[in-house]
Order: sequence, then structure tokens, then C-alpha cells
Amino acid sequence: MTTHKIAVIAGDGIGKEVVPAAIECLKRIAELHSLNLEFTYFDWGSDYYAGHGRMMPLDGLEQLSAHEAIFLGAVGSPSVPDAESLWGLLIPIRREFQQYINLRPVKTLDGVKSPLASKEPIDILIVRENNEGEYSEVGGRAYRGLPHETAVQETIFTRLGVSRAAHYAASLASSRKGRLTSATKSNGIIHTMPFWDEVVEETTRLYPDVTLTSELVDALSAHLVLKPWTFDVIVASNLLGDILSDLGSSVTGSIGVAPSANLNPEGDFPSLFEPVHGSAPDIAGKGLANPVGQMWSGAMMLQHLGHPEAAEHLQLAFESVLRDGLGTRDVGGPSSTSEFTAAVLAAIDVIDTIGAMDAT
Ligand code: NAD
Ligand code: IPM
Ligand code: MN
Repeated sequence: MTTHKIAVIAGDGIGKEVVPAAIECLKRIAELHSLNLEFTYFDWGSDYYAGHGRMMPLDGLEQLSAHEAIFLGAVGSPSVPDAESLWGLLIPIRREFQQYINLRPVKTLDGVKSPLASKEPIDILIVRENNEGEYSEVGGRAYRGLPHETAVQETIFTRLGVSRAAHYAASLASSRKGRLTSATKSNGIIHTMPFWDEVVEETTRLYPDVTLTSELVDALSAHLVLKPWTFDVIVASNLLGDILSDLGSSVTGSIGVAPSANLNPEGDFPSLFEPVHGSAPDIAGKGLANPVGQMWSGAMMLQHLGHPEAAEHLQLAFESVLRDGLGTRDVGGPSSTSEFTAAVLAAIDVIDTIGAMDAT
């Protein structure tokens, strides 16, 4: 039996609801596919911060490094400044483990109503550079409280950082429809962007079957709302990719369904799987959270661990419950988080019995 050591951090807010929901489904899938998923639970996050003054222990990254994958809910609470919670947990994990690709699928699902009038299917992969760019540690604040108070943060792009994101995206595009869109802002305003463009163009030239379009991000955002079905793979810097992924998932119907994989493609370090959404303090503890983004991230994790059939089984199960109109309220359905999860568990068993082909 294949064994995989997985670190689980539910984190804050709805992370504590959607992570247990997804773990229940992963456990059932593991039983049916003879996988030994060995989950180790870490109670790190904003509650841990209240007791310890930090988001994770000093040797937290070392503890995580003993795992093959990390399954995370969300980080962020009104009780801890975001700068503390994010730089204290999520960002160090992404950087220490060189998870330089943040892969964020944007796809229409039957049963999830898009706010768009058109019913054309949307199937986009956003490849977000995940380690550098606008999210740099260079900068700070000075003259606090004075009229000349100043905040500065450098944007840092490196040839290595941009080219490896571009390679990943171009190779994905080459295995799909061959269309790569690069989000840019190089019309003379942002000095770092012509460098991004140059490296993306140079890299994409190595993929003759890929057509690259560099699109200014403001126009691209409009395009993403007006005709999202025309996109295939989008490559974007850290901040632009962050914004485009919330926009993209909302265009398909809800941010609650969007998954993400923070990948170290070389496999030297654990990769991290988490939904695109945050801790949603406005709905936390009310049973309203949509666990699909977390479940789908779980399916991406199974795929990454080398179990495509198990991944597909889980994916078919939550998709069939959505198709039956039994989604959570954010997608117009009647279910609570736990009702939806129970329906997915039942669908996992049905698919196991009747076979995947008949479930589609
Ligand atoms: P959010 O994604 O938490 O919520 C935005 C809106 O979407 C809210 O109205 C929320 O109720 C809704 N929503 C989000 N996920 C949902 C789900 N699964 N089901 C139903 N509705 C859902 O963004 P925010 O409110 O801007 O941020 C809240 C906190 O989360 C902040 O502290 C932020 O820094 C943090 N955050 C963390 C991550 C992460 O851990 N990766 C990602 C984004 C935001
Ligand atoms: C995300 C989040 C994070 C990001 C925040 C919470 C730092 O918005 O994962 O999309 O911007 O990367
Ligand atoms: Mn985000």
C-alpha cells in the first residue's frame, strides 16, 4: 500500500470547517483506492498566535519538511494583523519550500451558476508566479504618524523566477489549446514589467506550438469578464495572478469552488494545496462555507502524489452533487457544509459501485 505523509493545517475561520470536510472525503477515497494517507494535524494559526505570540513554532518549517504534501485551509483572523499572520505562516511555507508555481484552475462546473449571461464553458489555468515579484521583503515604513510618513515595497523579478514560471505555463499551454496569455502592465508605467515581458517572450519561443499574447492587465480583466471562454493558460506575476484568480473564480460562479496548488515542481520540497479563498470571517462557524475549493485542492494533491484515478473519483463525486443542485448557498444550493459533505461521501460510494464512466 502506498503511504503518503501529509501535514494538515486547518488554520483560521472557515478553514476549520472546510478542511475536516475535505479530509473525510480524502479518507474514504484512500480506503477505496488502497492508499495510506497519513495525516498529521498542526493547530497553527491565529489561535496558536494568541497563546504563543507566533503563528507556528520556531521549528515549524522543519516539522513540515518531513511531509510529502501540506494541506492548508486558510490563514487570517480579525484578531491578528494580516501582516503577522501571513508573513508568519503562509508566505514562509511558499518560500522555504520553493513553491514557485501557484496553479489555479478556473472552470465552469454544472450546478454552479455563473453570473455571466453566456453559457460558454470556461476552462482556464492560471499560473501565478508565487515566490517573488510584488510580494518582496524589500521595503518598509518610515516616519510613522508624521505628515511625510512613507511606505515603500520593491518589486523584484529575477530571470530565473520569471523564466521558470513562463516555462511551466508554456508547457501546460502546449499540452492544451496552445494559447498562452501573459498579464502585463508594460505601457511605460511599471518599470519592471518590460523585463517580465522580455523573459516570458524569450521562454515561450522555445515552444513553437504555443501562441503568446501579452495583454495589459486592466484590459485582460475586462476580457476575463466579457469573454472568459477565449482563454487557455494565463501566466501572471504574484500580485496580478492573485487578483486574476479571484476574478476568474467569481466569473465561474463562486470563489468558494476555486482550488490551488502551490507547487515545487522538482519535488525537492513538499507542495502545498489550499483553496483560493481566505478564512471568510463573515461566515465562519455558521455552516455556510462551500468546501468544494478545499475538496478540489485535495484532488489536485492526489494528482500530485501520483494517483490520477483517485483524484478523478473525488472530482466526479463533488461535481455530481453540484450537478444535482445540492451545492451550498453561495452557489444557489440548499446545503450546509456538512450536508454537502455527506452528499459527496455518498456520491463517492455510488461512483465506486457503478463505475466512473456512468457517473459522468
Ligand atoms: P475571503 O476569501 O476570506 O472572503 C471573501 C468573500 O467570499 C466573503 O464574503 C466570504 O464569505 C466569501 N467566501 C470565501 N470563501 C468562501 C467559501 N468557501 N464558501 C462560501 N463563501 C466564501 O477574503 P477576505 O474576506 O478578503 O479575507 C479574509 C481573511 O482571509 C483575511 O485575513 C485575508 O488575509 C485572509 N486570506 C487568506 C488566504 C489564504 O490563507 N490563502 C487567502 C485569501 C485571504
Ligand atoms: C491567496 C491569498 C494570499 C496571497 C494572501 C492571503 C497573502 O490572497 O493565496 O490568494 O495573496 O497570496
Ligand atoms: Mn488571493
